[in-house]
Amino acid sequence: MDLQLKDKVALVTGASVGIGEGTAKVLAEEGCKVAITARRDDLLNGVADEIEAAGHERPLVIKQDIMADDAGANIKSAIDDAYGRLDILVNNAGAAVPAPVGTEEQVWIDVMNLNWWAVRRVSDLFIPDMIERKYGRIINITGTMEPFGINAATCAKAAVQAWSKGLSREHSKDGVTSNCIIPGRIRSEQNKRGFPTVEDELAFAAQHIPAGEFGDPDDIGNLVAFVASPKARMISGSVMYVDGGMKRFSH
Ligand SMILES: NC(=O)c1ccc[n+]([C@@H]2O[C@H](COP(=O)([O-])OP(=O)(O)OC[C@H]3O[C@@H](n4cnc5c(N)ncnc54)[C@H](OP(=O)(O)O)[C@@H]3O)[C@@H](O)[C@H]2O)c1
Repeated sequence: MDLQLKDKVALVTGASVGIGEGTAKVLAEEGCKVAITARRDDLLNGVADEIEAAGHERPLVIKQDIMADDAGANIKSAIDDAYGRLDILVNNAGAAVPAPVGTEEQVWIDVMNLNWWAVRRVSDLFIPDMIERKYGRIINITGTMEPFGINAATCAKAAVQAWSKGLSREHSKDGVTSNCIIPGRIRSEQNKRGFPTVEDELAFAAQHIPAGEFGDPDDIGNLVAFVASPKARMISGSVMYVDGGMKRFSH
């Protein structure tokens, strides 16, 4: 299937490692012009080198702490200068943070900022142009709503999912879809800290993942590419799982 993504302009946040890196590579393979952002520009440039070496257009690298007040404006201005528009926004930057009772207020504020407020703030800057041009894809990488304990990111990502649903209600008619993708356990920098060896991954998978193993970043990237495509115009307001069957409920 031709996903008709050639020359679509895509921004992937949190693309220096992990799911964001894998997603940027899939979108570049599909012919998108890709902008990648995160704080570590050495890693971003490495990702750009790899994409270019694979024969695809070199991504635009934007070094930016997405929690900064001016992050959205800086990112938008870099994309406007390079491409003049954005078709696909993948809100991926984020981090899981356990927050048991008594966790400092500032931790909650930072986690909400990274995983929720920044998502909405950055998206809000691009959505009006998408509505005007009658094409937009907002794709949010969220997380399980079946927490093992209190995790501040789960609360932030619940907000993203509620916002994404509302956005889909208001702007699907304008050609702007909004969807969420929930990764189960995908190999990434943050998961490497919790599961340093293959044996650690397999032990967790034996208990929790029917597919029996962790996924790879391009398992998410492949779904992102489809949802980003014009072919996915009727998919909006959805929450999709890439988790090898980890979710326990049927709805
Ligand atoms: N992997 C999984 O199994 C899994 C499961 C559920 C949900 N998720 C979600 O999927 C997304 C990606 O996760 P991942 O596992 O790939 O994580 P990761 O390996 O830790 O990568 C996180 C990315 O976010 C960027 N980032 C973090 N804080 C940032 C900030 N303040 N400003 C700009 N960029 C920032 C990091 O880049 P820099 O450090 O270079 O800034 C990095 O590129 C996250 O939203 C996560 O919550 C992942």
